[in-house]
Amino acid sequence: MTDYETILTEARGRVGWITLNRPEALNALNTQVMKDVVAAASAFDADDAIGAIVVTGSERAFAAGADIKEMESKTGGEMLMADHFGGWAQFAAVRTPVIAAVSGYALGGGCELAMMCDIILAADTAKFGQPEINLGVIPGMGGSQRLIRAVGYYKAAELILTGRMMDASEAERAGLVSRVVPAADLLAEAEKMAETIAAKSLPSLYAAKAVLDAAMETPMAEGLRLERHVFAALFDTADQKEGMAAFREKRSPDFENR
Ligand code: CAA
Repeated sequence: MTDYETILTEARGRVGWITLNRPEALNALNTQVMKDVVAAASAFDADDAIGAIVVTGSERAFAAGADIKEMESKTGGEMLMADHFGGWAQFAAVRTPVIAAVSGYALGGGCELAMMCDIILAADTAKFGQPEINLGVIPGMGGSQRLIRAVGYYKAAELILTGRMMDASEAERAGLVSRVVPAADLLAEAEKMAETIAAKSLPSLYAAKAVLDAAMETPMAEGLRLERHVFAALFDTADQKEGMAAFREKRSPDFENR
């Protein structure tokens, strides 16, 4: 595996692991982290032997936000010219399903990185928030848009305007988190979930992710039209024939693309 400066990566079975590794800064997301995560996720995405990706941090922090020290002295012009967080769009565009396994702080850009993933699995120690307002700024990696879609306008507005953190059980009730597990079980549970996903047919995973993304971005009627077309297109895959034949024959499917 390639060596990265700020993350650790590993392929275990059909699951690609990305572990944020800046313990001295609670995994704050500087430009190098963005480059490393994007490169690692893109490499896993290009590899048909990988059917799911897990992004995780440390016990203490998934990520405590964008790197404040890196940004502090920048001018507005510099932030715009560099499109400081623009590279993250490539991570969000990965076609392989991505699970965020969150323990400890997921704040600011950390919460936003988790929300770029398809599923957020949280340890009972996880804390989510968009504290940018305390720094005199606002969320900059998608939080103002994705948080509203996850938890609704009023909850998102309260979190973004007060900057307060919410714990894992509140995040689960609010719909941000798929499931809360004991901290000691987080990685094992993430692995189990990722293996379950990675065992499915890749074309259907890509298709599912494409229509899920569309639901976030398009009006309902357009999303429903896209869903019907993508659903129909999957009937040209061998895996659809195998999946449905296996159902009829009461056996497990043996997908070609996994
Ligand atoms: N950027 C840079 N460094 C950070 C950081 C960040 N976001 N978060 C923590 N660190 C550093 C601290 O500066 C500290 O470094 P030093 O030891 O060199 O001083 C180290 O990580 C440990 O942090 P603390 O000593 O502060 O740890 P704590 O346990 O006392 O507090 C915390 C933990 C509440 C998470 C606190 O670190 C904190 O509030 N961090 C900032 C959270 C934040 O504001 N995030 C939003 C950032 S802006 C953003 O994300 C914009 C966007 O939308 C993309």
